[in-house]
Amino acid sequence: MSKKVQIAPSILSANFADLKSDIRKVEEGGAALLHVDVMDGHFVPNLTIGPPVVRCLSRETSLPLDVHLMIEDAARYIEEFLQAGAGWVSVHWEGMVHLHRTVQSIKDGGALAGVAINPATPVSVLEEILPEVDFVLLMSVNPGFGGQKFIDSSYEKIRKLKRMIEGGGWDARIEVDGGIGPDNVRQVVECGAEVIVAGSSIFHAPDIQRAVAEMIRAVEAQKVRA
Ligand code: DX5
Ligand code: ZN
Repeated sequence: MSKKVQIAPSILSANFADLKSDIRKVEEGGAALLHVDVMDGHFVPNLTIGPPVVRCLSRETSLPLDVHLMIEDAARYIEEFLQAGAGWVSVHWEGMVHLHRTVQSIKDGGALAGVAINPATPVSVLEEILPEVDFVLLMSVNPGFGGQKFIDSSYEKIRKLKRMIEGGGWDARIEVDGGIGPDNVRQVVECGAEVIVAGSSIFHAPDIQRAVAEMIRAVEAQKVRA
């Protein structure tokens, strides 16, 4: 059964000096989650934010915080992010030695557990972990920066992953992250995505609230046609 598509604005492209007001706008536009990109300058060549900011965000919004960890040694920081109020936590397959254990620790902490994969990582590596995870975060750009172009081979990758999940009878949702905007969101959903991350196409739009609402409309319109 298909689930309702959720829009997760990525605050990486928001105005960090006025985060509260940007968050209000995406809430009013109908965002379902707030995507928080955590980068350490090692796993990816960029630095962003950590648990203190997540803690402040969790006090400011009732939207679940979808924390995408692009850091080395992610297992070491899970507890801290859970304490800070993360509702969804994803870790990268490429950075984990004991992925199964970390996924369990996220779930034991009461959050939804996800595994993220980079564009060059095939979905086949997920075979053993799929029954355990609540979602898969499929990167459609190389992680590290907002505003990059969607990698076209991701469409086929989403379809493949969808087939794997359906074939196994698993519940994992597919979240797609990177280069998504009003022009390609329908196609991404058509392939099987259920959670859409969008940073620059929302926060750099002239009207942030409207950008979220329009993305939801684009996806809803597609459902009516289908
Ligand atoms: C990239 C991040 C993304 C990023 C997406 O490493 O994981 O969440 O914010 O930004 P856009 O939507 O601009 O590609
Ligand atoms: Zn992300």
